[in-house]
Amino acid sequence: MKKRVLITNLIPEAAYQKLSRRFQVTWNKHQLTEAQLVLKIKSFDAVLTTLADPVTARVLNSAPHLKCVANFAVGFNNIDLVTAKSRGIWVTNTPDVLTEATADLAWALILACARRVPEGEKFVRTTGFKGWGALFLLGQDLFGKTLGVYGFGRIGKAVAWRGRGWNMPVLYHQRHQESSVVEKRYNAKYVSFKTLLNQSDILSINSPLTPETRHRFTYQEFKQMKPNSIFINASRGLIHKEADLVKALKTKVIASAGLDVYEFEPMINKDLLKLSNCTLLPHLGSATLETRNKMALLAAENIELVLLGCRPKTPVLSK
Ligand code: DGY
Repeated sequence: MKKRVLITNLIPEAAYQKLSRRFQVTWNKHQLTEAQLVLKIKSFDAVLTTLADPVTARVLNSAPHLKCVANFAVGFNNIDLVTAKSRGIWVTNTPDVLTEATADLAWALILACARRVPEGEKFVRTTGFKGWGALFLLGQDLFGKTLGVYGFGRIGKAVAWRGRGWNMPVLYHQRHQESSVVEKRYNAKYVSFKTLLNQSDILSINSPLTPETRHRFTYQEFKQMKPNSIFINASRGLIHKEADLVKALKTKVIASAGLDVYEFEPMINKDLLKLSNCTLLPHLGSATLETRNKMALLAAENIELVLLGCRPKTPVLSK
């Protein structure tokens, strides 16, 4: 009998095509709640999930035959890894293929904030372009400014790499220091968290969400940043406290923020929506046609490998 695979949501068709060559695939095309997942997943051998699926212990334990959860994302904070490990279920993600797209998006936010692009765009559409003004919508130069990166993994490095075009010195902070070869390549210097906060002009969050990074940026941290600084988060919303960010933006403790992710995603703090000194996107980090196709194929490949009895290509934990 063919092994059974569940795809939980709408993703590029490439995954369905690849998987249906060997397996019996059920493709659910809308977001499921935890309760719906519990009911749906029961008879499957593998599941292809998205970052919005709560793959909790309840969900995992309702699927006695489950061998693989392939997340269509680099992040995997939506999955209960402890339960998966104890049940011997492979958990995989989609690293590498989305690095460049996500770094581009972080830079889109950096440029949008520095040059007040959304404000200008909104102005043209709502008020109309009435003529050039020497003091109108003045932003900030980026060239030569200091780029701070919190979390110097693949995406953090790709964000730093792009900073070369703006001649930016890079400061980074994470648990460990990189080798001098890596630091030289990215023009980057390892600094304490405190130095990262008070010396960065642009601070880009690129770390995964872990117990250690959860709520790492509160009002306390924003207060230590430069008044002209720009805070960017294209990683996970729970790394900052949204109410504290609102307070920091309102009181001009920092100049602006660019967010692709939210603390209580998809809900967004109502006060944040009213502020003009922030640029808000609907979690578009990896949202390009090419990248999403590669993510779909990689997730499908991971499932295929596991169901054929092999080690998946990109496991997040080894069994
Ligand atoms: C991921 O894959 O974790 C990103 O957030 C997608 O944009």
